[in-house]
Amino acid sequence: MRLPATSRALRASSGRWSIAARPTIIPRSIPIPSRPAFSLREWSSTPTCRIPSTASPQKTQKSTLKIEDETHKTDEWTNTPDTILSHVGRRLYLDENHPLAITRQLIESQFTGPDFGNYSEKNPVVSTKNNFDVLGFPEDHPGRSRTDTYYVNDKTVLRTHTSAHQRAYFQQISRNEKTRPDEVGYTIIADVYRRDAIDRSHYPVFHQMEAARLWKRPDTNPLAASKETTAMIMADLEKLPSHDVVVEDPNPTLHDQRNPLQDKHHSVEEVEAVAAHLKRSLELMVIKIFTEASKAASKGGAEVEPLKVRWIEAYFPFTSPSWELEVFWQGDWLEILGCGVIKQDLLINSDVPNRMGWAFGLGLERIAMLLFNIPDIRLFWSKDARFLSQFRAGEITRFEPFSKHPACYKDVAFWLPPAAVTGGSAAGGAVPFHENDVMEIVRGIGGDLVEDVTLIDEFTHPKTARKSMCYRINYRSLERTLTNEESNELNLKVREKLVEELGVELR
Ligand code: PHE
Repeated sequence: MRLPATSRALRASSGRWSIAARPTIIPRSIPIPSRPAFSLREWSSTPTCRIPSTASPQKTQKSTLKIEDETHKTDEWTNTPDTILSHVGRRLYLDENHPLAITRQLIESQFTGPDFGNYSEKNPVVSTKNNFDVLGFPEDHPGRSRTDTYYVNDKTVLRTHTSAHQRAYFQQISRNEKTRPDEVGYTIIADVYRRDAIDRSHYPVFHQMEAARLWKRPDTNPLAASKETTAMIMADLEKLPSHDVVVEDPNPTLHDQRNPLQDKHHSVEEVEAVAAHLKRSLELMVIKIFTEASKAASKGGAEVEPLKVRWIEAYFPFTSPSWELEVFWQGDWLEILGCGVIKQDLLINSDVPNRMGWAFGLGLERIAMLLFNIPDIRLFWSKDARFLSQFRAGEITRFEPFSKHPACYKDVAFWLPPAAVTGGSAAGGAVPFHENDVMEIVRGIGGDLVEDVTLIDEFTHPKTARKSMCYRINYRSLERTLTNEESNELNLKVREKLVEELGVELR
């Protein structure tokens, strides 16, 4: 059976799905750390029933939410707090001297007109249909769970990825067929939202960039013209420059179980050609990014190794075959992006039944963090001139930390309610407990004053079978020194809220 990317072994330490356990035969010379510093966001939960949780009701919920001048009715699905909504509309990616905008432009410069239109999507409110259904997410996909996703209400969410706009952009290509026939692809930049852990490389609001490139095929019986389609794609591949960077790509393009052909729709030759075009395009993009990063690093005196990249088999509900691209950077393999051959059913449902092609999506922050040597993801949201004044449009420079303020650690230990189970599923009638609910409470109270939250101890009482958890919260401002009283006060509020919202018993 083919396992979805999310059906990976549960990592005991953090409750997240481990990429190390993906069902492939690729040997990993370097073990993936339990929390990769820069990883493509993964869904944190176990598969779950699509039911509104009663575990963490919003006690003071408003009847409507106003987001980007639109009013949305709330319901029992709503779990989007004002602290998250306060990030909507910052549009950091348009602020041309901001590192995220500089990174966006660097990537867009690899995907230019007339082939590609470069777009941004402002309003983060999308339907569950566009975020999940049209992309083929199964009903029990963990991404649909309230522990992972910010619901505005039953039918709408804050988009969890830019792929939520794929269908609309394919439809646009179809609409513009006569007026802009050369525009066969697009890039989109947007802010995306996920309930997640708290640490220096995870923030509930981050940015993704997504792109797709399509080729036309005959309206009827396209498989009969497979040779011509293949030749057309190969001709476009020839137009891309070649490169001499070492690329590990040990797996076949197609594998019956792990990375299957959409055999109803595509021929092997066509897919080989699309995959070759996709891989070359993305390798060139990564080479451009890391050449810039190396230049900045060597200017700053850091030692720079030659670039190494590798392709890993992957799974996404809306591409097949699928891959992830990893780059060896400063001693670690970093997951940079996900991509694949677009599911033909999605193209059929998006008014472009007579085209095939590739798509990819990447997280902007992790690339910007290594380009500019930015050590903490919270900095992107900083309004402090000591941060903002360091960057200028079109320039990749190393960030100079302006100061490191002391950390203030506070532990919170508690017993879960007797019937609680960990793993995030409310199925089976037990009261669910999900780590993301703890994170959300800490985030709601501490906001950007919290650097990270880690589970440091967990055990089950041998007699009562009750489970105890202990989290360590690191309060540290990026901008000033926090007093012990301030952190104590925040921590006291966290403790009260944990009892109130999750029904835990403090120890
Ligand atoms: N949307 C995917 C994610 O957020 C990335 C992706 C985009 C994968 C497009 C394939 C194609 O993880």
